[in-house]
Amino acid sequence: MINQKLQALKQTFDQQFQSEKKRDKRLFFAPGRVNLIGEHTDYNGGFVFPCAITNGTYALAAKRNDNQIRMYSMNFAAAGVKKFSLQQLDYNQEDDWANYPKGMLAKCIQAGQEITSGFDVVFYGNIPNGAGLSSSASIELATGAMLQGLYELTVDRVKMAKLGQLVENEFIGVNSGIMDQFAISMGKKNHGILLDCHSLEYEYAPLNFKDYSLLIMNSNKERTLASSKYNERREECETALRLIQQEKQVEALGELSAEAFEQVEYLLKEEAVRKRARHAVTENERTKESLRQLKAGNLEGFGKLMNESHMSLRDDYEVTGQELDTLAEAAWEQDGVIGARMTGAGFGGCAIAIVEKDKTEQVKQAIQKIYKARLGYEASFYEAAAGDGAKECTEEVMT
Ligand code: GLA
Repeated sequence: MINQKLQALKQTFDQQFQSEKKRDKRLFFAPGRVNLIGEHTDYNGGFVFPCAITNGTYALAAKRNDNQIRMYSMNFAAAGVKKFSLQQLDYNQEDDWANYPKGMLAKCIQAGQEITSGFDVVFYGNIPNGAGLSSSASIELATGAMLQGLYELTVDRVKMAKLGQLVENEFIGVNSGIMDQFAISMGKKNHGILLDCHSLEYEYAPLNFKDYSLLIMNSNKERTLASSKYNERREECETALRLIQQEKQVEALGELSAEAFEQVEYLLKEEAVRKRARHAVTENERTKESLRQLKAGNLEGFGKLMNESHMSLRDDYEVTGQELDTLAEAAWEQDGVIGARMTGAGFGGCAIAIVEKDKTEQVKQAIQKIYKARLGYEASFYEAAAGDGAKECTEEVMT
């Protein structure tokens, strides 16, 4: 399946860029990600526990001799080829999806990297857009890997993740944290990454679910972070931190234990602010505890923490909505499911569940039935595997 798509990628390149001559094209890839636990903790200086997945964004690219850049996406075919020059790297609404790779190019150059000629690139992604699996960070990091390969940049993987975050923050206008770009840049096959978003220290944790698999449940409710309440949530957390700092010397909510938070909670008079901060603190504790449970081989303990995480995102952070609640709550009722929660920013997008392999089919059907009855349309299901981070693909991928 993927090989057919990659052949189509080659053909599309030749058609769109009319390159009869054989050009030196190179293929790059960046995955999407799911977050196992640790939601809305990254910009609060807390821990996250994501993994890269094997689906993602491919970029087939060739250098040009002039300063022109041409970009085409098979996922947005109707938008046609986006063209601009190396001297025109400002955000432009008309460039639509191409602002993500354009932003990455701009940030690499601003970071002092030497990119003096243009390129042609065709993208193809096999993660659904707006589904909370980080299609935007995926195209940013696929572009990063491409620029790294074509222009021999001197940017390490952590720095590349930070540049991707700058694209979101300064180019697109979403005040997101580092989690998505870090997971996508640093992903490792069959591993999750426990990341301290304050220090950027990280640890790979083997994901061995044995007789269980990780099921992704897409609510099929699309959203973009730019139009969601994402930035509002972040501001509420910043307000909470400022108020807490009147009494306690902390740099981030992630530094507070649940007990320490209880002592300063009274400073947060506004209920919404108090609830947001409570989520940030308790979620951070759950995330650290998750690693301990997984290391001890206690998958059930981890599943319970996943459920608690969803409840906190539903009741305190208020980012789940009817779609994600229906998916998670329907999953909790099923025999063979040991944990389920929304993943990513929320407001639509995907939930995940850990499901006994033998029961996956019946679990999917039961959840689908409940979802369709309540929402009037279907959810989609995918089985996820933890894959590698952004990289250049070797020739055999395409043959
Ligand atoms: C989005 C952001 C991340 C993170 C999550 C919520 O995916 O891009 O930085 O804040 O939401 O955990």
